[in-house]
Amino acid sequence: MPVERTLVLLKPETLQRGIVGEVISRFERRGLKIVALKMLWMDRDLAERHYAAHRGKDFYEPLIEYITSSPLIAMVLEGDEAIEVVRKMAGSTDCREAEPGTIRGDFGLSTQKNIVHASDSSESAEREIALFFSPDEIHDYDLSVSRWLK
Ligand SMILES: Nc1ncnc2c1ncn2[C@@H]1O[C@H](COP(=O)(O)OP(=O)(O)OP(=O)(O)O)[C@@H](O)[C@H]1O
Ligand SMILES: [Mg+2]
Repeated sequence: MPVERTLVLLKPETLQRGIVGEVISRFERRGLKIVALKMLWMDRDLAERHYAAHRGKDFYEPLIEYITSSPLIAMVLEGDEAIEVVRKMAGSTDCREAEPGTIRGDFGLSTQKNIVHASDSSESAEREIALFFSPDEIHDYDLSVSRWLK
């Protein structure tokens, strides 16, 4: 089982609504390891690079405006097959369609304001992590609890 790293953003409404802790708790309880974490206010340049794949779509411009409208939390999570595990925890893009039990299915009703971003492939994860974190901001360390989850 490959140990992977994935980029997670707790989008602006997650901070505004005061549910940052609840969302992070879910990742911690699942056994995912936080290896990097920061609060930042994305500027247009970073937003355009992060969402480059969506340029030209009808939701692109509102998406860039929204993601740059207020600060957010960026983190890198590590674990066995973390990319797919975190995508499953996030649920469907449209919160209204997301299954109960998923983050979007439990906390949202919007498609745009859907609580979290999660990398969708190893290529995306590598690219996105490098957009938000320098290598010295990502920490290698032993998490003793992980021994009890295998
Ligand atoms: N139809 C839409 N209307 C409004 N906003 C949308 C729509 N589709 C996507 N978005 C916004 O753009 C983001 C990126 O879309 P994408 O298709 O990559 O979804 P995702 O991979 O489920 O979400 P993310 O990339 O944020 O993890 C979505 O998370 C959402 O905020
Ligand atoms: Mg995506």
